[in-house]
Amino acid sequence: MKQKIFVKYISELINCIKVNEFHTIIKYILCICFILKGLILTINYKLKRGRVKYHQILNHYNIDATINHINRVYEDYIKYIPNSTDLFRDKRILEIGTGDNLGIALKFISQEAEFVLTIDKYYIIRERKKEQTLYDKLKRDLNKKQQKLIENTINFENEIQLNKKKLNYIYGVGVENLNFLNIDKAFDVIVSNAVLEHVDDLDKAFLEMDKILKPGGWMIHRIDLRDHEMFSGVKLHPLTFLTVPHLIYKIIRKNLNTPNRKLIDYYRNKMVEINYDYKILITSIIGMQEEFTPFRENLNSNEKKVKNSLKLLENFQNRLKMPFKMKNKHDLIISGIFLIAKKKLL
Ligand SMILES: C[S@@+](CC[C@H](N)C(=O)[O-])C[C@H]1O[C@@H](n2cnc3c(N)ncnc32)[C@H](O)[C@@H]1O
Repeated sequence: MKQKIFVKYISELINCIKVNEFHTIIKYILCICFILKGLILTINYKLKRGRVKYHQILNHYNIDATINHINRVYEDYIKYIPNSTDLFRDKRILEIGTGDNLGIALKFISQEAEFVLTIDKYYIIRERKKEQTLYDKLKRDLNKKQQKLIENTINFENEIQLNKKKLNYIYGVGVENLNFLNIDKAFDVIVSNAVLEHVDDLDKAFLEMDKILKPGGWMIHRIDLRDHEMFSGVKLHPLTFLTVPHLIYKIIRKNLNTPNRKLIDYYRNKMVEINYDYKILITSIIGMQEEFTPFRENLNSNEKKVKNSLKLLENFQNRLKMPFKMKNKHDLIISGIFLIAKKKLL
């Protein structure tokens, strides 16, 4: 069966060469490169760290850029939530996909959160000196009371030490394995930024998050639905990743943390399925350089930006693999979302 599929891909490739479909050739060459890159990285991880993947350092480790990133992520959390001033005070918060620093967690602490747990599936290479400078800078921007809250939570003068009653960081646990923590209904708020698009088993992830969230609690997830520059990075169409056959994409994803290709409709259906009150805001659409400010609930087909985006999709939709090809046009052009959901009271 697999041999047949392989022969089908090869003949598709040969066909493309014949008809000069250069972008398809480039697409397949890139796919082969991704598969090889994934294999090399995996061998490297296994040699270095055993079973916990040794993820590469994230790309924004310029201190000022990181501070801007933290502030932007945090401000979005409070900007789009009703009565958000009280959202974090005295609350137990779970942050999924910490990344390379505890900046967001510290922002919650400075807003009088009772406790923050931050988890990541992978160990991220940390630059301790820069991390210390980062926390110092973050702290300096706060008022005296907030600074005190930070000081009671983290000591970063010599080495970074956490007061684990206020803030804890665990790595090696993915959101789909939250049951490892063995605590049900323990958190008031669950947040993540640019994480859910990397998760393999999102159904399991939502099941686990639902278990761990208290009734009346909130989930806030910002999700990047783009191709993470897999193909758009070399100027191919931004939806090229939705044209890659499922088997090939699965092989690429096995070893590289590329997006899971779940689009806005998945999250909409999931919220209905788990019976949450929810709102999904659109942060961006394909072909647009900047994000929408403010994020919006609907797209207006008469607006220029939306028209341009739909035009970009128009000649390309036929190339998409099933089921993407059959999806609603507006759903296909949405390249980023902000999901706000509230678990109903019992
Ligand atoms: C693009 S980074 C975002 C990091 C951070 N939230 C930020 O905004 O800078 C994605 C993060 O999600 C983590 N991650 C990927 N899959 C995960 C999973 N299944 N469970 C928890 N974290 C995951 C990665 O290790 C990485 O730290």
